[in-house]
Amino acid sequence: MNYKTVFSATAIGLVLAGIGVAEAAKKNEERLIERGRYLVTVGQCNDCHTPGFPQSNGTIPESDWLVGNSVGFQGPWGTTYPANLRKVISAMSEENWLKHARLERRPPMPWFNLAKTSDDDLRAMYRYISNLGVKGEPAPAYAPPGQSVTTPYIEFFPKNLPTQASK
Ligand code: HEC
Repeated sequence: MNYKTVFSATAIGLVLAGIGVAEAAKKNEERLIERGRYLVTVGQCNDCHTPGFPQSNGTIPESDWLVGNSVGFQGPWGTTYPANLRKVISAMSEENWLKHARLERRPPMPWFNLAKTSDDDLRAMYRYISNLGVKGEPAPAYAPPGQSVTTPYIEFFPKNLPTQASK
């Protein structure tokens, strides 16, 4: 083997290694997106963040997932609207998402569960939701207790709760 052969063999080797690295990165990205889809599904995010999802028995097409909901939840906390997570995520880095996803929220957002989600799982959700792309408008703004709203809403006032005295 002369030096030219050695050189070209090395070059070919490097190109093949490069392709291997790119392939591995692509596989890893696909694995993360798939994991994110699974977590969003079993984490039940669509139940609130995708309009009509429970009513459709979960058959809303994936292209319409997580666009936020203009049907509010009204309770003692005021009226809240499930955010458009595709817009929210498009506006922040993955590192910021790790912090943002763990902040305290108003009901009925189960923030206390999301706050316990591991970094790896939150990253997978980030990759999945980013991959869906931006769609829809931001959800309506939160309205404090006593403020009337013009959107549809679901009432969340507990009725007939046993009182402390009757326990
Ligand atoms: C029972 C309904 C419900 C479910 C289930 C739910 N959310 Fe929410 N989510 C809400 C509501 C309502 C808000 C708005 C809360 C507020 O105004 O403080 C919200 C807000 C959020 C926010 C804050 C967005 C922002 O920047 O304004 C994030 C992030 C979020 N949800 C992520 C998730 C994820 C991820 C899941 C699934 C693991 C999930 N939610 C499941 C109702 C829900």
